[in-house]
Amino acid sequence: MVQKRLEVKQDEKKVYDIVIKDTFQGLTEELEAFDIEKKRLCIVTERNVSSYYLNEIHELLNEACRQVDIFIFQEGEASKNLDTVSQLYRYLIQHKYDRKDMLIALGGGVVGDLTGFTAATYLRGIDFVQVPTSLLSQVDSSIGGKTGVDFQSYKNMVGAFYMPKLVYININTLKTLSEREFHSGLGEVIKHGLIQDRKYYEWVKANREAIAARNPEAMAVMVEGSCRIKRAVVEEDPKEQGIRAFLNFGHTFGHSIEKLMDFRLTHGECVGIGCILAADMSRRRNYISQEEYEDIVNIFKYFDFPEIPQELDSRDIVRETRHDKKMEHGAIKFILLRAVGEADIYKDVTEEEMLSVFRSRNEEKEAGGRA
Ligand SMILES: NC(=O)c1ccc[n+]([C@@H]2O[C@H](COP(=O)([O-])OP(=O)(O)OC[C@H]3O[C@@H](n4cnc5c(N)ncnc54)[C@H](O)[C@@H]3O)[C@@H](O)[C@H]2O)c1
Ligand SMILES: [Zn+2]
Repeated sequence: MVQKRLEVKQDEKKVYDIVIKDTFQGLTEELEAFDIEKKRLCIVTERNVSSYYLNEIHELLNEACRQVDIFIFQEGEASKNLDTVSQLYRYLIQHKYDRKDMLIALGGGVVGDLTGFTAATYLRGIDFVQVPTSLLSQVDSSIGGKTGVDFQSYKNMVGAFYMPKLVYININTLKTLSEREFHSGLGEVIKHGLIQDRKYYEWVKANREAIAARNPEAMAVMVEGSCRIKRAVVEEDPKEQGIRAFLNFGHTFGHSIEKLMDFRLTHGECVGIGCILAADMSRRRNYISQEEYEDIVNIFKYFDFPEIPQELDSRDIVRETRHDKKMEHGAIKFILLRAVGEADIYKDVTEEEMLSVFRSRNEEKEAGGRA
């Protein structure tokens, strides 16, 4: 039986727990701390996830609280917008939700971000709980209180920092994830090791077979390890004024590629490509060794991460990084590895340096092809 609990604190005070289990039994017990017998609870989820897990959660909650409602939207990033938020506001108003009621976000990062943003703004804020079901949401998006939606073609343009009351993770939900979505989450897992914890990164490498097989013991250790790293970073820097930016390792190029590919690659896949490119820059600056760099390439390869899409022009990728929100007075804040397991923010990365990574990668490839 898996049973782990991590406290997330702010200013030394506990703000919420992250509970990691291998079942949904136990969710109501956790929620009882919030007097749910007196509350209305609205489960917010999307069609795909609901087909797997809604019935079980609905039954559990139905017995434990005053009223349970269900709001389901179409899955996918295309739904993460203000239209869906408006529909949810309307639904909550029609069902007479007041400030004491609660939203339950059941799904991946799309559900979590959208539900969190709705909770942050409906009646100036009502409680919400994260029940993340994708790997990416379990190790990343459900922790740290960033909520928001896309606006027109701008990703995560509208949002709020707003903490959940609880994050309840059932690692068993990872079994039904598609191979691609599972690997997408692994992009963030490997990133966590690279930026913050060499031991964890080495553990991932040593246990790659068990991880690829989604062995339950490996899933429990991996999810807990990643949650610990993300927690440490967000506790130290809740509003992203300093080290929280380390989490953007691999994301500058990753976001560009995600956008230029029109979201045909998953977020985590693009982050994986971005991590390799940023690791390459770290190697060129002699922050990490050639061997360490190859090791990073190999672990992503092992998990079948895609290569840089052939159809993309490196100049477009670099140009697109200008739209990244992580700019400060016109200079990009680029995250590189100071060493394996340690990241830092660099403000001296020029577009020329970025381009040179692509150029010499191509040259190396051609040389490799001739050899
Ligand atoms: N708030 C943050 O700090 C933060 C951090 C990283 C990413 N994000 C956001 O998270 C989103 C990406 O999250 P995601 O990858 O979870 O996307 P997602 O929510 O779209 O889920 C990915 C796919 O997996 C399916 N799915 C989810 N759980 C499943 C399960 N247990 N079994 C079968 N299928 C399942 C979904 O239906 C969907 O098709 C993006 O919108 C991104 O901007 C937010
Ligand atoms: Zn990410």
